[in-house]
Amino acid sequence: MTTSAPLRLSTPDLLRELEPTAAANLNRHLSLAKEWMPHDYVPWSRGRDFDPSTGGTPYEPGQSTLSPVAQIAFEVNLLTEDNLPSYHREIAEQFGRDGAWGTWVHRWTAEEGRHALVMRDYLLTTRGVDPVALERGRMQQTETGYAADGKTALQVLAYVSFQELATRISHRNTGRYTEDPVAERLLARVAADENLHMVFYRDLCSAALALTPSQTVIAIAGEVIGFAMPGTGITDFGRKATQIAKAGIYDLRIHHDEVVTPLLRHWGFWDLTDLDAEAEQARTQVRDYLTGLDALARTYEDKRAAALASA
Ligand SMILES: [Fe+2]
Ligand SMILES: [Fe+2]
Repeated sequence: MTTSAPLRLSTPDLLRELEPTAAANLNRHLSLAKEWMPHDYVPWSRGRDFDPSTGGTPYEPGQSTLSPVAQIAFEVNLLTEDNLPSYHREIAEQFGRDGAWGTWVHRWTAEEGRHALVMRDYLLTTRGVDPVALERGRMQQTETGYAADGKTALQVLAYVSFQELATRISHRNTGRYTEDPVAERLLARVAADENLHMVFYRDLCSAALALTPSQTVIAIAGEVIGFAMPGTGITDFGRKATQIAKAGIYDLRIHHDEVVTPLLRHWGFWDLTDLDAEAEQARTQVRDYLTGLDALARTYEDKRAAALASA
């Protein structure tokens, strides 16, 4: 008996095969993405000079109308967006600069650039966070950079599908948490962009699953199990992420129920047949991982409920 080697496409072959789908999704994106102006979302009348030598008022923490946790969530979301130069490099290296892939890379980068601009303008105008800490955080984050650590184009497609959805939810929930209608409107606008980005990557993954199912299942499985938010390199990220989770802005329950589960369902991940042995094994690992994640999320929910009950 002979066993044939599992079908695996090289990255150039995969990108070439997916090019028509990338073009179709790019066109759909361009037809759906509405132009918006960041200056329309910033409350400029709330702004003042900072420099006392020109009659300004230096920043003091009490000037912020945001709660401490809202400040942390907003700052983490912004510093994540600030690392755009590294993200651009990563997807440009993976997807290339030619054809529909290249057009997407540049369009996506232009849209993402708007996010950091509008969020920083809001925070500086409203004195929402310490501007010195914010700038030092940006320098640290950008100098650290972000690397996809040898991911293939297929793995990047899977990762960014989860990451764009996670970012959409994080922005949306941070906006609500600020209890400032101006910030909520601004972050809802940014979240709408992230949603369209997610749809692009999600549908490219669907096409990859149809093209090379076992290879794509293995890529998706790796990104589910190894997922880390892109802001991981931010100073003190662990402590900040814990506070964001405790506030219910982004926690394991949200990650399990609103990010991983719906995307896997959309892809028909559990319904695929005729996978090779390696892909079947990867799918089993995802099932086990999600069972553990669900249990851990429940533990944190119980802790939070107990803390609220005793407060
Ligand atoms: Fe963004
Ligand atoms: Fe995005």
